[in-house]
Amino acid sequence: MFVLAHVSDPHLSPLPRPRWSELVGKRVTGFVNWHRTRHLIHRAEVLARVVADLEASAPDHIAVTGDLANISLPGEYAPARAWLQALGTPDRVSLVPGNHDVYVRGIASHLHSQWGAYIRGDDAKDDTSELEFPLLRRRGPLALIGLSSAVPSAPFMATGRLGGAQITRLAGLLDSCREERRFRVVLIHHPPMSTPRRHFKRLIDGAKLRAAIEKHGAELVIHGHDHTHSLIYLAGAHRPVPVLGVPSASQASRPGHSPAGYNLCRIEGQAGAWQCEIIARGLSADGGTMMEIRRISLG
Ligand SMILES: [Fe+2]
Ligand SMILES: [Fe+2]
Repeated sequence: MFVLAHVSDPHLSPLPRPRWSELVGKRVTGFVNWHRTRHLIHRAEVLARVVADLEASAPDHIAVTGDLANISLPGEYAPARAWLQALGTPDRVSLVPGNHDVYVRGIASHLHSQWGAYIRGDDAKDDTSELEFPLLRRRGPLALIGLSSAVPSAPFMATGRLGGAQITRLAGLLDSCREERRFRVVLIHHPPMSTPRRHFKRLIDGAKLRAAIEKHGAELVIHGHDHTHSLIYLAGAHRPVPVLGVPSASQASRPGHSPAGYNLCRIEGQAGAWQCEIIARGLSADGGTMMEIRRISLG
């Protein structure tokens, strides 16, 4: 059995004090928003409890689907790297970025220099100036295929975009990894599909991503961004593809919202006869204890 843990959207705090010159563009509204409400929602002590529970589960690998940062201040990337290092070494932890990690233009060098070891695929050179997506990592029977949907967006928007070239490369990897008879896990920050209410947070080319997955297949898609437990199925070429969302790992318990949590994906079997059990763990509604929220067999 191979156990993949999935954790997302830690929105690490405290937010470093910005220089005045750094408070430009979208960062202004994001900074005000953080100090008005978000610092009360995303709590370091909550995240510490979630991570301690995750570590006690001793997973074989940990997938992190973005939003480590909040407003992409240059000072956010080094503390986030320290958090990743505490979570595990780069061979045990795979990361894809979220929209809060690429909140404004011009921060790609921070992403590359601080987090690159966790984002690069097995065959990627570590001296390239660009991070390449999709990333591909082979771990146990799994093929971890990481996408970047993280792009800067206008104020009050949180949309994502993959681009045609990334989706084309994804299709090729899904085919080659199926031929390797691997359990294909697609990692992405944005959900492939959003409700009309979340239109301003949607993946803009989600329809093209869904078409690629439905045509080329995948065993599992995992995402963050919505900060809630979710499970939908896409129609696959041979079988339905489960798409699994997870709450923010730092979200304090409050009415009407999923408390902080993470998922464990317990995978066994072989190509054509995979079995995958999902164990969702999280804080109780009163925030008092970490507990099993639900257990689902994906068949
Ligand atoms: Fe988030
Ligand atoms: Fe997000």
